[in-house]
Amino acid sequence: MFGFATARTLAWIALIAATHAVPLDLQGRGAATLPSNDPFYAVPADVDSSAPGAILKHRPPPAQIAAFGLAPVNLQASHQILYRTNDNFGNATATVVTVLIPHNADLSKILSYQVAQDSACKDCAPSYALQLASATIGSLGTLVTQAELLLLEAALNRGWVVIVPDHEGPNAAFLANRQAGQATLDGVRAALSSGSFTGISKDATVALWGYSGGSLASGWAAELQPSYAPELKIAGAALGGTVPNITTVLSEINKSAFAGIIPSGIVGLANQYPQVNSVIEKHVLPQYQSLFNKVRNQCLVADITSFLFKDVLGMLDDPTLPFTDPDLVKIQNDNALGKATPKIPLYVYKSTGDELSPVSETDALVKKYCGGGTPVKYVRDVLSEHGSLAITGAVKALAWLIDVLDEGKSQKGCSTSTVISSLLDPSALEIIPGFIVDALLDLLGSPVGPILIG
Ligand SMILES: *[C@@H]1O[C@H](CO)[C@@H](O)[C@H](O)[C@H]1NC(C)=O
Ligand SMILES: *[C@@H]1O[C@H](CO)[C@@H](O)[C@H](O)[C@H]1NC(C)=O
Ligand SMILES: *[C@@H]1O[C@H](CO)[C@@H](O)[C@H](O)[C@H]1NC(C)=O
Repeated sequence: MFGFATARTLAWIALIAATHAVPLDLQGRGAATLPSNDPFYAVPADVDSSAPGAILKHRPPPAQIAAFGLAPVNLQASHQILYRTNDNFGNATATVVTVLIPHNADLSKILSYQVAQDSACKDCAPSYALQLASATIGSLGTLVTQAELLLLEAALNRGWVVIVPDHEGPNAAFLANRQAGQATLDGVRAALSSGSFTGISKDATVALWGYSGGSLASGWAAELQPSYAPELKIAGAALGGTVPNITTVLSEINKSAFAGIIPSGIVGLANQYPQVNSVIEKHVLPQYQSLFNKVRNQCLVADITSFLFKDVLGMLDDPTLPFTDPDLVKIQNDNALGKATPKIPLYVYKSTGDELSPVSETDALVKKYCGGGTPVKYVRDVLSEHGSLAITGAVKALAWLIDVLDEGKSQKGCSTSTVISSLLDPSALEIIPGFIVDALLDLLGSPVGPILIG
């Protein structure tokens, strides 16, 4: 089964490699202006005079939200809000959250969905990408991105308000995870105080959800909440494809299908830490400089295809540098999960065969959280890999979120189960409209098979 799934993934990768070998030109897609050219995204000079989560500006998205190509869009309104947050150093900054309000919305329920942008380019921010057609987004993100759109649609279908923060901040600081957690919490604060133009109740029930790169933002938000946003009552967080330790991922994915995440992560960190920029300038071999720096201007699919199966660490004059340079080691450790114990109940789902981040590290993280008193429902899934669990694991995660948001149930204590497949749960399938289930299954089964990352 793993062999089969892997073969399908490889076929998919070959396909994207063939169709997207040329870097994507992000310009000229529809009426939306790229964030890099759009003054709405500019961080105001006096940003530190506002409190974290304060709304600085808002507008309807300049182009219609177009990402949900599946069915007539179930959206009554959408908004973009620029709000104050803090970067990894605690310096004031600002980022954008997209607020999606479905028809017949229950304005007392908010799902904050953290997208797996996984790119070091600010023009790949979800606030921009959501204005593009889903076919286009497929070329900006991976099939996980496509799956994420379906999950957002399933959430909107529940009548929940869905908010999607640009959690990488204004400079696409992928892996600057403290910022991502803060941006997630401040995006919730902004949404809760946006009632005058969104109608959202100021005491709405809130849940968080994210997979892989999105689980880093969500997991950091959960860990930071007691200290950073103690006033926020978050009912639960679902974290899938968890990536507790960045350093381990580097050695797991070097020369693999996922190798493109290495330069994207290093440049993402460089977008926050000047010393990482110096490492790139000094230690990436001259013949690889332009290739390595391509990730500054392209989204995840292009990153993946640019570095497919490449020995990315071998592009450094010393390939062991990320494991030996004291600055780099410290920065990776500073951005790893496990710094604090969440008070929010968690649903954690993880493939036992995850090829990016070994399941043992998530086992250890869950054990640590439980030991500290966090209620955690932990589901280990056997028949999956990192990419496919984003799809097969989603239905059970959504069922857990429904318990939290709609049923007012909360996780009590800790439980761990190892299941053959999270998808083999017929009762779970009933909670998603059939057309979304079909589309999810299509993603899994189609030649463009289960993909990658997040
Ligand atoms: C941000 O924080 C760092 C570290 O605390 C500090 O050195 C730097 O001057 C700050 N930058 C700005 C723009 O405030
Ligand atoms: C991450 O894993 C590496 C080994 O791959 C280890 O040296 C490091 O201490 C770990 N970091 C954290 C924060 O646990
Ligand atoms: C990069 O990956 C390849 C293949 O797994 C491996 O041979 C090489 O040692 C790796 N480099 C480092 C520094 O881990």
